[in-house]
Amino acid sequence: MVTTDSFFGGPPEVHASAPGRVNLLGEHTDYNDGFMLPVATPQRTTVALARSNDDHFYFYSSTLDANVTFAPNGSAPAGFGSYIEGCIRLVEAEGVQVPPLRVWVSTDVPVGSGLSSSAALEVAMLRGLRQLLGFELDDVKLARLAQRAEIEYARVNCGIMDQMASSLADESNMLFIDARTLEHRLAPLPEGTEIIVIDSGVARKLAGSKYNERRAECGKPRASSVKALRDVQDPEAVEALPEPQRRRARHVVRENLRVLEAAEGVSAERFGELMNASHYSLRDDYEVSIPELDVLCELLRAQEGVLGARLTGAGFGGACVALCRAGHAQQAAAAALAAYNRDGRQGRILIPVPTE
Ligand code: GLA
Repeated sequence: MVTTDSFFGGPPEVHASAPGRVNLLGEHTDYNDGFMLPVATPQRTTVALARSNDDHFYFYSSTLDANVTFAPNGSAPAGFGSYIEGCIRLVEAEGVQVPPLRVWVSTDVPVGSGLSSSAALEVAMLRGLRQLLGFELDDVKLARLAQRAEIEYARVNCGIMDQMASSLADESNMLFIDARTLEHRLAPLPEGTEIIVIDSGVARKLAGSKYNERRAECGKPRASSVKALRDVQDPEAVEALPEPQRRRARHVVRENLRVLEAAEGVSAERFGELMNASHYSLRDDYEVSIPELDVLCELLRAQEGVLGARLTGAGFGGACVALCRAGHAQQAAAAALAAYNRDGRQGRILIPVPTE
């Protein structure tokens, strides 16, 4: 086992951390300049940093037990090191001199469940660099750099939601985000509620290719007054589009309206209805659900105290989120999981964080 002491030969110079995110409402809206309402996960990614004592970069992931080493003019191979290197290179591109570093990473954000472990790593790393080197970087700019690290270095064509959430959200409030302006504000969860997140156990296999396909389908809507689907406020206005653009646009336009309504502050019951409607729209119009996620949401909805459930994240696998009355989460999650796993499935509860 590599500890921070053995990796650094003493204590590191700085520690920093960042959470993953669970999106409660507003899916596939960010790259359409729209709105969303994520919360931060209790699970976090931690980085420890120190200047290297030679001219090489050394990264170690204690979660993967994997090392990455490269010379100043080299680069990290694809994998966890590419996210870290991306953050370093982008900070350099901002005019900050970054010395060769040793970077130690550890995370309890589940990887591959749709809770944005990659955004947590990018945001933690940028926070670590900011702290170690003392340059100015506000939290929105930090989120933008984190997104660029993901697009340019990890080669994932994501929107801005995950990095904004990891950089600015907290666990007990939702973060309302306007993806066009990056205006944001914290909004309380509906009174007397808490959330459940269950991983379906199905890896997000098609997530990359289908995600890009959906982005292309949303494309640039024809009319020149419409810059992005965010600018369409009347759901009827998309009905004349050819398929599948019509159904894709229907989802985005209605999903934005759901987020705007929820962000105004609605009852817990109404919030739950909006989550259910979001799931049906992702399933039927956006077509990013899979049978396992549909079953898991149904099982969650059937539990006492549960007000609504939907897939969270890009879809094609990953996790479902449910809103339930405070005090019901443990019981409802355990019952839904037991029913879901009865057929040999490998679901697991992510929130409330299981106590071992
Ligand atoms: C992924 C992307 C986000 C967002 C969601 C879907 O998590 O990284 O930018 O597009 O899918 O809402």
